[in-house]
Amino acid sequence: MVLAADAPIVGTGRDYTHLVQDYRVHGSLYTDPAVFADEMKRIFTDGWVFVGHESEIPGGGDWVARRLGTERVLMARAHDGEISVVANRCAHRGTTLCPQSEGNSRNFRCPYHAWTYDLDGMLLGAPFPQRFANEKPDVRLDQPGQVGIYRGFVFANQSGTAGPLSEHLGSGGSDLIDRAADMSPTGRLQLRDVAIEAEGAEKAKQIMWDGPPHAFVFPNLFLGEMNIARIDPLAPGLTEHYHTPLLVESSDLGINRRVILQSEAVMGPGGARSPSSSSTRRCSQTSRGTRSGLTWSPTTFTTGCRSGPVTTSRTPG
Ligand code: FES
Repeated sequence: MVLAADAPIVGTGRDYTHLVQDYRVHGSLYTDPAVFADEMKRIFTDGWVFVGHESEIPGGGDWVARRLGTERVLMARAHDGEISVVANRCAHRGTTLCPQSEGNSRNFRCPYHAWTYDLDGMLLGAPFPQRFANEKPDVRLDQPGQVGIYRGFVFANQSGTAGPLSEHLGSGGSDLIDRAADMSPTGRLQLRDVAIEAEGAEKAKQIMWDGPPHAFVFPNLFLGEMNIARIDPLAPGLTEHYHTPLLVESSDLGINRRVILQSEAVMGPGGARSPSSSSTRRCSQTSRGTRSGLTWSPTTFTTGCRSGPVTTSRTPG
């Protein structure tokens, strides 16, 4: 079977039901550029996407660079504590504002012509402002239509048409995040560093009974027990995974030490779930395309996964 560009159109995209069958999916779902474009629109533009965790930007002026699908964005904390998500793209001529992955700034200044924006994206000033007299009052960085936060997990919806975040998460998604957050004695996670406090024995017993979650919050947040994976699809043949140990806010630093060790063993370059050799990873993809002649992948295998050689693990400092 071939996924043709003229496959039936349903709504804003194509009907893929004939490519997903019991126990198998068609490899072209992972490799066809048209499918990727549709995915970017229907899922990563019109839906809610995980951006990051608020503990990654603990102080005023902290920011991290992220993606909403193929859109580059900045998640920042203003000096009043408010969190915003804005395009990492100057409103003047589209220059990338922050090529680094993270930082701390009073504002965002474009390296090209020095237009300067506050951390919420409003234009503060530009050289020779008389040239832009008509533009300045309304100029700001693009921003997603909606931003929502649930227990420190920051999500954004580019189009603003996805409805409430609570509906996207549903009781299942919020329960998973609750289970992850409740692994912390204080109910707060620390993806960046560790701190304070402890918790009562009864609650701890219940938390250990429930255990950490091991499931996906669609479309790009994987709660992998004591790890968080953020998945950034970049192109039909390339996806980046970022793995971060899920550290808890605790006075017992030994807990987080164990989490980091476990995370390195499982998610690190030589870990069980990240083959140390990129050639091994490439071999795991041999059945994904139509050229190999193996056009279908059993759904129980990961052989159809779109994946490139880039897998990034970050251990909080
Ligand atoms: S492109 Fe940013 S100021 Fe001109």
